[in-house]
Amino acid sequence: MTDLRSLRSDFPILSRSINGHPLVYLDSAATTQKPVAVLDAMEAYYRTSNANVHRGAHTLAAEATELYEGARSKVARFIGADPAQTVFTRGTTTAINHIAYGWGLDRLKQGDRILVTIAEHHANIVPWQIIARHTGAELVYLELTDDYTVDIGELESVIDDRIKIVSFSGMSNVTGALGPIDVLSQAARSVDALVVLDAAQLVPHQPVDVNQIDVDFLAFSSHKMLGPTGIGAMWGKPERLEEMEPTEGGGEMINIVERHTSTWAPVPHKFEAGTPPIAEAVGFGAAVDYLDAIGMDVIAAHERDLTTYALEKLSEIPDLRVYGPKDATKRGGAVSFELADIHAHDIATILDQDGIAVRAGHHCARPLMKYLGVPATARASFYLYNVPEEVDALAEGLLKARQIFGLS
Ligand SMILES: Cc1ncc(COP(=O)(O)O)c(C=O)c1O
Repeated sequence: MTDLRSLRSDFPILSRSINGHPLVYLDSAATTQKPVAVLDAMEAYYRTSNANVHRGAHTLAAEATELYEGARSKVARFIGADPAQTVFTRGTTTAINHIAYGWGLDRLKQGDRILVTIAEHHANIVPWQIIARHTGAELVYLELTDDYTVDIGELESVIDDRIKIVSFSGMSNVTGALGPIDVLSQAARSVDALVVLDAAQLVPHQPVDVNQIDVDFLAFSSHKMLGPTGIGAMWGKPERLEEMEPTEGGGEMINIVERHTSTWAPVPHKFEAGTPPIAEAVGFGAAVDYLDAIGMDVIAAHERDLTTYALEKLSEIPDLRVYGPKDATKRGGAVSFELADIHAHDIATILDQDGIAVRAGHHCARPLMKYLGVPATARASFYLYNVPEEVDALAEGLLKARQIFGLS
């Protein structure tokens, strides 16, 4: 197994204890911990270069602007993109809302269809529901196969001229299943539909290059890849970003403002109304530098090994059911499970007593929970700083939960 354990000392929080036990953090799909490099970069910005960006001729304003735009270049490079097509947003959710409102509102109409999958996070369902309500378009779903991957066999009967947008996740935050990016984008192209990739769980965990995939938009969040909350990115093809309307108006995003009309600043600024999250951008830039220095291939291999090990260990626990692919090559490191009829919240509470942090609930994917026929699942999720001993701790904690509930 790729051994990245020496990195753990870069993450101050990992040395704290919870309820008298060392922290075992298995909730990185919700948000990741932050290395010193990110914390330091943000603090240094506030200590030495804090000013508003893009306006003002003074030295601090110039430094802040350089740091902010420098961070954009780093984030763009991380996904093989041009900074001019890389928009800072508040996160994945805001990015998908920009796309839904800015592109969908003016173009969709009665009879049109937006295709998503049943495995989507609410961030990739609710904005489309709202736009569907405004425009009269209809939201349609692809379902899953027995191994929890998207059922691409349904495509033939679903794909037709009514489909205008195909929006799906690159990796499910519940099942961990990888999205069939090429198959879905080819299907979309066959009817000239727009392709939106929710990459909130993909960009942090696998190498992603926008030149290697055929999508119109890609959305991801800094906080899921070692950076701060409050910032993320929306990458778009130049022609799409040009034709798309801004969804927020205000300072920074304009060219000329008259009494009754305005013109827009060039992309990406057209979509960045108001004072942006500058320190957060700096932290985001430091996070991608950190990931780059390790290498996304190395990180992906580490997570694959750890997930394989976790699936093996979990399979040894009686009455435990994993909701996700058994094959580690079809998935990432978000592992959702159910243990006998113990409620997921009870499992999370019992594990927390031993310092083990997992998430329990609907994971912002209620349609998926309903489809799976469960009210909630427990979810362990892994990142570069996790080690096999933490998987062992999880397995022990789950055996303890069985005992507490009187299961032998
Ligand atoms: C697959 C997926 N999409 C979208 C989101 C929303 O991300 P954010 O809350 O950072 O906007 C998440 C967050 O968990 C996610 O896992």
